[in-house]
Amino acid sequence: MRTHYCGDINETLIDQTVTFCGWVHRRRDHGGVIFLDVRDREGLVQVVFDPDTVEAFNTADSVRSEFVVQITGRVRGRPEGTINDNMKTGQIEVLGKDINILNKAATPPFPLDDYSDVGEDVRLKFRYMDMRRPEMQEKLRFRSKVTTAIRNYMDENGFLDIETPILTRATPEGARDYLVPSRTHEGSFFALPQSPQLFKQLLMVSGFDRYYQIAKCFRDEDLRADRQPEFTQIDIEASFIDEDTIMGLTQDMIKGIFQKELGVDLGDFPQMPYAEAMSKYGSDKPDMRIPMEIVDVAEFLQDIEFKVFAGPAKDPKGRVAALKVPGGAELSRKQIDEYTKYVGIYGAKGLAWIKVNEIEKGIEGLQSPIIKFIGDDNTMKIMEKVDAKNGDIVFFGADKTKVVNEALGALRCKVAEDMNLYTSEWAALWVVDFPMFEENDDGSISALHHPFTAPSCSPEELKANPLEALSRAYDMVLNGVELGGGSIRIHDEAMQETVFEVLGISEEEQREKFGFLLDALKFGAPPHGGLAFGLDRLIMLMTGANSIREVIAFPKTQSAACVMTQAPGIVSNAQLRDLHIKLREKPKAE
Ligand code: AMO
Ligand code: AMP
Repeated sequence: MRTHYCGDINETLIDQTVTFCGWVHRRRDHGGVIFLDVRDREGLVQVVFDPDTVEAFNTADSVRSEFVVQITGRVRGRPEGTINDNMKTGQIEVLGKDINILNKAATPPFPLDDYSDVGEDVRLKFRYMDMRRPEMQEKLRFRSKVTTAIRNYMDENGFLDIETPILTRATPEGARDYLVPSRTHEGSFFALPQSPQLFKQLLMVSGFDRYYQIAKCFRDEDLRADRQPEFTQIDIEASFIDEDTIMGLTQDMIKGIFQKELGVDLGDFPQMPYAEAMSKYGSDKPDMRIPMEIVDVAEFLQDIEFKVFAGPAKDPKGRVAALKVPGGAELSRKQIDEYTKYVGIYGAKGLAWIKVNEIEKGIEGLQSPIIKFIGDDNTMKIMEKVDAKNGDIVFFGADKTKVVNEALGALRCKVAEDMNLYTSEWAALWVVDFPMFEENDDGSISALHHPFTAPSCSPEELKANPLEALSRAYDMVLNGVELGGGSIRIHDEAMQETVFEVLGISEEEQREKFGFLLDALKFGAPPHGGLAFGLDRLIMLMTGANSIREVIAFPKTQSAACVMTQAPGIVSNAQLRDLHIKLREKPKAE
């Protein structure tokens, strides 16, 4: 139907006749001459119709935005003064001889010929139109380039692409499962995989040695800008390797992609223990572009009257910490109030502060509503510890350690964004030495990564002191986003049973849920490990998008629905009957 893509027609084709297809991007009537900008995935080309070619002229006159057309014409240089250097095809235009309307189009729900700020609901409802916009085209093309580069890298390094089931059993990764009722097994359900974790481990038991898959994962969890219920992992596993090998291989892959696709050198990835990340940055995914650290100040506040600080300062599970913001003394009362509200989201009950106006004047040079509670001496010692300089503001958090870390950790990122305090464009690192388990509010224990992660101690030590045990897990963090995570796995049945036991999973439940894994570990499981990257997050970071929805062709909304197809939808009673399901209440028809 065509000889060229619109966007590929250039000055090398001058005087040649070309045929191309695409959408009418813009139509202009210029004193008896009609100009059409025609668009396809490669770009735009300008077509001119003279009234001399009567039939073509009349057809061109009748087309409207987004009509689908096929045009034949002769390429010519643009007249002096109309050359557009910003356009791939800006040196030429096509003198239209023939135009064939392949399809008409209703008026688009939003204009496509100029950037307009359209609400996300409308964009998602008409996603196929939204994706005609150049920004979306670019992002999805970029995504395709990156997945190709990943496949090439994996292939060059001997990884086999093997698919794993979507209809499966629960694969615990810490989220709720999406369930699929079985018709053939009354009362039973499949779970969609939260990740291919167990299957990739079983592939190692099978001896495939190196596996990868660009795999869809499903998690029913609270959604955020970097979380979707259905997302894609670059899932990797290898046998007879240690942490250094797998971290080195995957780091080289990510570095290579940044270099090739963006010309960015990510440099060396430092390794930071989890405990350090939490204490200095309040987060297990610290954004290292920000040169601010959280500093403990409890030592100065244990004996003061002010309970808000003294309480957590004395509590082994509490923390009192300071965050110094350079230049923050400029913040207005209103801005400080907004930050106070912001940390409230993370459970902080307040946000104390000290502005440093003239530190050489001592206490007189400071401004704060809390100095009277903590005392001059303590205040000056804290100023010394945080190395306060004129123009700084020092924020304080006092609460349970978890609350202080989350609140000050988030504040650090928020203030850095608002005040543009970044000192580099990219900052990648590995976070290592994660604890094996964490304690929930109700005192129960859960795995920090997943229960198949190998601890760095013996089963006996693990049982004796589970909350002290570290794991052989590692996360790759880029600009404060957890890009990927993985671990060396347990390949020993006794160790796996111990971990289940610590997690309070009874032997019966272990057999019922993970019997196949425990069996497989009996039959010569090799030492193995791996990791998984979030492909959507990788593309989001690389394209500068502010949400992973921007780099997924058909994403779900914040409430995990598709406004275009109206999924999830109501099903007929007959279907429910086949699935042996009876709804407790009949849903209202939509
Ligand atoms: P984890 O749960 O850390 O590990 O997931 C790996 C990576 O997947 C991405 N990711 C998500 N992206 C978008 N939306 C989500 N809801 C979402 N959840 C996770 C993140 C994350 O780093 N089986 C292990 C990996 C392993 O141990 O090999 C796993 O799934 O970028
Ligand atoms: P109050 O006595 O409650 O008015 O608090 C005095 C100052 O301490 C105010 O600036 C509060 O924002 C701050 N504040 C209160 N609770 C906390 C807390 N848990 N952590 C940090 N600052 C707090």
